[in-house]
Amino acid sequence: MSEKQTYFLTGVTGTLGKELVRELLITAPHELYVLIRGQKNLSARERLRKILAASGIEHFFEKRIWALEGDITRPGLGISSEEMDLLRAKTDRFMHVAALTALNGSREECFSINLGGTREALSVGWDFLKKGKMKRFFYFSTAYAAGSRQTYRSLESGLPESPAHANFYESSKYEAEKSVRQAIAEGFPATIFRPSIVVGHSQTGATSEFNVIYPFLKLFAHRILTKLPSRLENSFNIVPIDFVIKAALAIAQRDDSLGRGYHLVTQEPPTIGMLLDVARQEYPQIPEVELIDPDRFEPSALPPQEKFVYDMLTPYLGYLNDHLTFDTSDAQEALRGTGVDFPRTDRGFLKRLLAYAVDAGYLLVS
Ligand SMILES: NC(=O)c1ccc[n+]([C@@H]2O[C@H](COP(=O)([O-])OP(=O)(O)OC[C@H]3O[C@@H](n4cnc5c(N)ncnc54)[C@H](OP(=O)(O)O)[C@@H]3O)[C@@H](O)[C@H]2O)c1
Repeated sequence: MSEKQTYFLTGVTGTLGKELVRELLITAPHELYVLIRGQKNLSARERLRKILAASGIEHFFEKRIWALEGDITRPGLGISSEEMDLLRAKTDRFMHVAALTALNGSREECFSINLGGTREALSVGWDFLKKGKMKRFFYFSTAYAAGSRQTYRSLESGLPESPAHANFYESSKYEAEKSVRQAIAEGFPATIFRPSIVVGHSQTGATSEFNVIYPFLKLFAHRILTKLPSRLENSFNIVPIDFVIKAALAIAQRDDSLGRGYHLVTQEPPTIGMLLDVARQEYPQIPEVELIDPDRFEPSALPPQEKFVYDMLTPYLGYLNDHLTFDTSDAQEALRGTGVDFPRTDRGFLKRLLAYAVDAGYLLVS
């Protein structure tokens, strides 16, 4: 069991944040302070209590985990000065997880939350480093900060000079990671994690959110879409959530991960052909998907309703036609001997993901 530390986290109401909280509370004696936005009818405290209850760990509420109301786009993350004094005095480790992850988010929103929010987190981090006892800062970037629109082998040590981004999520996360790397160059003790597309649990397929890949499956299963601009051999990089959580926390424990970045991705991405084949075998009721060569795909030739849907999905299409590949040398080295292995994202895994989505009632297959 690792020694007790006090963490300050953002983004704990999200897909990854909820699991990070659970893992940090269950596997170690850590104490957690978490920044949460208040909602109209629900305070930050109430939101935290609900999340813990849903994970079956409500007994930790205000024993080992406390909510602070704030907003990462506001100066000082919108935390009151009394709470900031407390946090500064307590925080050993700061994990900045919050982001706007909508791939169709506007430029203004994406840059305000992802770049602006990360700058605020860095500024609070510098304050904690200089005047408090914070030793480490962890930032969740994305493997797609490198841009999903061009063929490129992404390295863990940096970002491309001329990225081709598919949406404002990617470009805002690129600028945010650049600001974290700039801080590292100035002596800030940050570590960067870059997951690819996070999907369900490796063994159970369970997920709390059906994002990115799942909506495509749903649209095909429900016959709203019939054509996909991709090729059978094209791959897509999905990574099970439990690997991302365990790998990030194992790497976070290492002294030599300071100042470095890590790809948390699968090393063997499945292909579109494999996914369609598994879907056909397991759920023959799901209609056949017609693949169209992306170079010849003409959305204007589609029936109006289908064209409307494709226009909304354009920011997502790059993820189904992986041009990016990811070097994982540093993550591989850092995980050696930790008991955390890179995931197998094979046919069996795809089956489990589909089965969970069907059993949860997300994919209606009659
Ligand atoms: N999931 C993936 O596939 C994936 C892949 C690669 C990288 N990542 C990165 O991993 C991190 C977590 O992703 P996720 O999928 O867990 O995201 P998510 O489910 O969309 O959750 C986003 C979190 O950020 C919070 N947030 C957003 N704007 C905020 C603001 N202005 N002030 C305070 N909190 C705010 C949200 O709070 P509310 O509940 O109040 O909205 C929520 O807790 C992100 O940095 C993302 O870029 C995710």
